[in-house]
Amino acid sequence: MALAMTGIDVKIVVLLVVGVLAMASYCATVSYDHRALVIDGKRRVLVSGSIHYPRSTPEMWPDLIQKSKDGGLDVIETYVFWNSHEPVRGKYNFEGRNDLVGFVKAVAAAGLYVHLRIGPYVCAEWNYGGFPLWLHFIPGIKLRTDNEPYKAEMQRFTAKIVEMMKNEKLYASQGGPIILSQIENEYGNIDKPYGPAAKTYIKWAANMAVSLDTGVPWVMCQQADAPSSVINTCNGFYCDQFTPNSNSTPKIWTENWSGWFLSFGGAVPQRPVEDLAFAVARFYQRGGTFQNYYMYHGGTNFGRSSGGPFIATSYDYDAPLDEYGLLRQPKWGHLKDVHKAIKLCEAAMVATDPTISSLGQNIEAAVYKTGSVCSAFLANVDTKSDATVTFNGNSYQLPAWSVSILPDCKNVVLNTAKINTAAMIPSFMRQSISADVEPTGAVGSGWSWINEPVGISKADAFTRKGLLEQINTTADKSDYLWYSTSIDVKDGYKADLHVESLGHALHAFVNGKLAGSGTGNSGNAKVSVDIPVEFASGKNKIDLLSLTVGLQNYGSFFDLVGAGITGPVQLKGSTNGTTIDLSSQQWTYQIGLKGEDEDLPSGSSQWISQPTLPKNQPLTWYKTQFDAPGGSNPVALDFTGMGKGEAWVNGQSIGRYWPTNIAPKSGCPDTCNYRGAYSADKCRKNCGKPSQELYHVPRSWLKSSGNILVLFEEVGGDPTQLSFATRQVESLCSHVSESHPSPVDMWSSDSKAGRKSRPRLSLECPFPNQVISSIKFASYGRPSGTCGSFSHGSCRSRSALSIVQKACIGSKSCSIEVSTNTFGDPCKGVAKSLAVEVSCK
Ligand code: GAL
Repeated sequence: MALAMTGIDVKIVVLLVVGVLAMASYCATVSYDHRALVIDGKRRVLVSGSIHYPRSTPEMWPDLIQKSKDGGLDVIETYVFWNSHEPVRGKYNFEGRNDLVGFVKAVAAAGLYVHLRIGPYVCAEWNYGGFPLWLHFIPGIKLRTDNEPYKAEMQRFTAKIVEMMKNEKLYASQGGPIILSQIENEYGNIDKPYGPAAKTYIKWAANMAVSLDTGVPWVMCQQADAPSSVINTCNGFYCDQFTPNSNSTPKIWTENWSGWFLSFGGAVPQRPVEDLAFAVARFYQRGGTFQNYYMYHGGTNFGRSSGGPFIATSYDYDAPLDEYGLLRQPKWGHLKDVHKAIKLCEAAMVATDPTISSLGQNIEAAVYKTGSVCSAFLANVDTKSDATVTFNGNSYQLPAWSVSILPDCKNVVLNTAKINTAAMIPSFMRQSISADVEPTGAVGSGWSWINEPVGISKADAFTRKGLLEQINTTADKSDYLWYSTSIDVKDGYKADLHVESLGHALHAFVNGKLAGSGTGNSGNAKVSVDIPVEFASGKNKIDLLSLTVGLQNYGSFFDLVGAGITGPVQLKGSTNGTTIDLSSQQWTYQIGLKGEDEDLPSGSSQWISQPTLPKNQPLTWYKTQFDAPGGSNPVALDFTGMGKGEAWVNGQSIGRYWPTNIAPKSGCPDTCNYRGAYSADKCRKNCGKPSQELYHVPRSWLKSSGNILVLFEEVGGDPTQLSFATRQVESLCSHVSESHPSPVDMWSSDSKAGRKSRPRLSLECPFPNQVISSIKFASYGRPSGTCGSFSHGSCRSRSALSIVQKACIGSKSCSIEVSTNTFGDPCKGVAKSLAVEVSCK
């Protein structure tokens, strides 16, 4: 009998089928066992990367997530930033950069999973570790310990986030992307001083989290005493030696630090990709099945969100995606290859534990073998010596500090120290911002200004006896707190104004003039200054501007670390030798700046534009209009010429700027040796230079013309020197030897065909519409040096340049086999390589 259906019936049936299929293919069960996370009954080897949603813009998210997926990530990990979401108790913000649901959905749309680290303490170089300041003022509260008022708030916020996720069906158990959640953060590192209450707190936190019934597992990182209801995980530069506290939980690495954070006053950290790849491979070699890059994209600490003290505005982190969201090469590409290589071993890795054996001093083999599958990792953990080892009857070259991955226990698909990805040398193109400024009346500059008054100018100022701690006074409503007093002097005299502050920086004004400044640093926030001053007969005003540069985010009782001028404040007379202590006299206080109250950051109000623009004047607000630089490349502002302050573009804060805070002269090696254990100080660069000159202005904050830039300058600068810097790529470089493995992508076709492809050197211009425009260097034989300074060796093929030109010029990408087939043999019996540097236009 034929079934007769109307069009509407058909539609309904189709919808039903699609619906059921969607449910069936989406709702996932997530559990775990000793080996791995188990998703829908299958153990998985997963690669994850951290992207913190408020450190970029919603407009950037899809691209960052897609680049993460292209780089081989399965999971995006993010913290949840309590103080951004609940700046005032009970008043929530989930808009714009705080659109957590939007972010999680963007990850889902790309088909990736999410690890949601709720915390809600997060550390993260984020102001006050992510805690809202109002927590501190709840009567009887003690943070991060077994304390009822604290636990009530922590539970309320955690439950709120879980509820939000559930309402949007974002847990994997509901068909969403979230496969894992974290409660607390590295408490185990700092819990000793909290005494026995630490233990009860951690038990409570685990129970509380589990009771929220997300349907997916919870983790606690760096918590060896984590209860069995949660998975304890590892954070660090290496976690291969980590063992979970239970035999029934998998080995998970929640933070593999891909670089390190930058501080104002510090040099720029870098972690070589050879070492990062080594750490990753070592982890999977020794039984790990889930690792996360902290950070995969670090981004920017916009506004006053950075922690500290002294965390810089850039949170680039030397991550695989740079601050601007562009691929950092060869880091991104090499790690992508590492991920592919590891995934080729997944079947064997999930089937069994590795069998680990020594193949000699500092040489370790791990074999995953059951039934028909076998994968192996061979590691040389020696920091100096390369080695030749025999494994299963075959011989392998293992460079020092490297791991070779053998998906079939025989052929090497990748060695962590041999990079097939081309390096990109970034550069910034400077462009004046004043060129396209609309005339505002100020001669030649396009700038107007307003002076911020020295000392007390707001009606809500108040007077107290003695010196107040700053954070308890301002509740972090502003970076700034004025301490004002005056002294009566009978006869004029000279003295040293001695000021001691808990930090983080201060500017001292005497009789309205900047007399001196002092600043702490990331190692010691305290400030102590002795400023020579001359007092006139009569009344003399002393106005001290104390400021914070990001509140402490780490350590036991970090929330109680104070700031501000707690004294003593003294006048040490150089004329008469007496010391006058001003600490306990009457002081008048003003929280924040007048300009902040008047909303100058938005650009409104009456700005002064007269023929001469005040330059190098402290406490000055500046404003200008500008057109966005053409094109779509990321934009930064170069603050060279300015002192210290904060900047806003169209009312949005791009963060604190401080180009005059210079990194120490020494401590940056000429070349960075990736071999040997990495630490944050190992491979810094930019010694003796400003820690941060360039400040990211997200494209989506800009209109094509008529943008408003406002600066608040504390110490004095020349805003006409400001310029745009747009991110360019100067050149691409690659150096591939005959002993490099062939590209990872050849593995499957090679295995099927039973052949072994030769290594290839591949280049690809990063931006759309770009092609390789010139070959700056090409040499086949024994070239040496590094990108930008390659040189020919004694043995070289004379035709290398023309061969590379023919293969690459005019193309977006090219790929050349590195062998005598391509170049002939300039020196028989000698190991040869190909080095190339090209430009893209
Ligand atoms: C970890 C912490 C992270 C971050 C990191 C350093 O200890 O869990 O939140 O602060 O250090 O970047």
